[in-house]
Amino acid sequence: MTVSTPSQVFADRIGRIEVSATMAVAAEAAKLRAQGANLVDFGAGEPHFPTPRHIKDAAIAAIDANFTRYTVVPGIPELRKAIVERHACDFASDYSIDEAVFTTGGKLALFNAIQILVDHGDEVILPVPYWVSFKDIVQYAGGKVVFLETDEAQSFRITAEAIEKAITPKTKAIILNSPSNPAGSVVSAEDLERIVHLAHERCIYLLLDECYVYLNYSGKPVSGGSFSWAKEHIVILGSLSKTYAMTGWRAGFALASKAVAANLSKLQSQSTSNATSFVQKAAIAALAGSQECVAEFRAEFIDLRNYMLSKLAEIPGLTCVKPEGAFYVYPNLSAYIGKGGIETATELATRLLHEAHVVTVPGEAFGTAHHIRISYPVTKQNIDEGIRRMKEFLVKLA
Ligand SMILES: Cc1ncc(COP(=O)(O)O)c(C=O)c1O
Repeated sequence: MTVSTPSQVFADRIGRIEVSATMAVAAEAAKLRAQGANLVDFGAGEPHFPTPRHIKDAAIAAIDANFTRYTVVPGIPELRKAIVERHACDFASDYSIDEAVFTTGGKLALFNAIQILVDHGDEVILPVPYWVSFKDIVQYAGGKVVFLETDEAQSFRITAEAIEKAITPKTKAIILNSPSNPAGSVVSAEDLERIVHLAHERCIYLLLDECYVYLNYSGKPVSGGSFSWAKEHIVILGSLSKTYAMTGWRAGFALASKAVAANLSKLQSQSTSNATSFVQKAAIAALAGSQECVAEFRAEFIDLRNYMLSKLAEIPGLTCVKPEGAFYVYPNLSAYIGKGGIETATELATRLLHEAHVVTVPGEAFGTAHHIRISYPVTKQNIDEGIRRMKEFLVKLA
């Protein structure tokens, strides 16, 4: 019997992407755990808090009330109202409910936005380091990723000037994620406004991934949605995952012009249809209910970030930019690459996992060669133990 090779069987587009590195790390860690290893997990990109009670209760009540059937594709009007009102209240944006689409997670909002906007050969500007999925989703659509290097000495900050230099006649979109995963870098309010002007004047779509918008520790959170005069070229991609500790619920949204929203809805009508009905009710409770939990989570993340940075400072040779948002640190481990037979960040992360039982994600997944990503929503005891193991492992290499 002859077995067909994947290239004969599968469509070209699936060959253009890789399995998400964070998911690959999680799978490898799960294997070790199943063999009995006691791991310190700095891999997962999710809050360690349970979903707040009032959000869970809303979902339970919806199931009990048999709110378990199909809904309209972009989400029930009451939910879209909650999305636009939350955004208007926090960022003075001005969207109508026809300009909101609720999705099965923020990643799907991003995936669909790229599918409806990016064609073969279109260029999409992506600052480095980037969240793992941006590159692959653009490539899946046939687009060409234009990587925009940032300077670690400037905290990986993205500036309007650098974006302007990367624009060509083929630029279709710019992806910005602020605060960013993995480095926690934040685009300043001034740069954001200049980038919005640039995109609007040049008819380029600005895809703003606001997954961590409420986890901005550098000042008052800002959103591109505030610039309603440029709405035609702005697509806001939101997520309830990190803001309300709802990663497993799969709750995200897009806010965009009516034309973009209608096309997002059209694509969704041919794939997932509506996001889960009772999750929509839970999302209303999250967005329209008390926002105290958001402030509490934020305060705890700031405390954990500072604690993590103080512990990392005990590792000789390691340097680390102070993240201004999100819940990751992105230390530079050049001092250890080239030692003990380790040539790449992937090799370093693999050996950390197998020999020190510490889960991290290697920098190659985010476009840089000498870093690892450490996710810090864990207990302080976990931070102590994980960094102790890392230090012991690294010092032996030197
Ligand atoms: C930058 C960024 N955008 C989007 C997402 C997707 O979030 P979700 O699909 O859980 O809403 C993530 C998740 O890790 C992320 O880090």
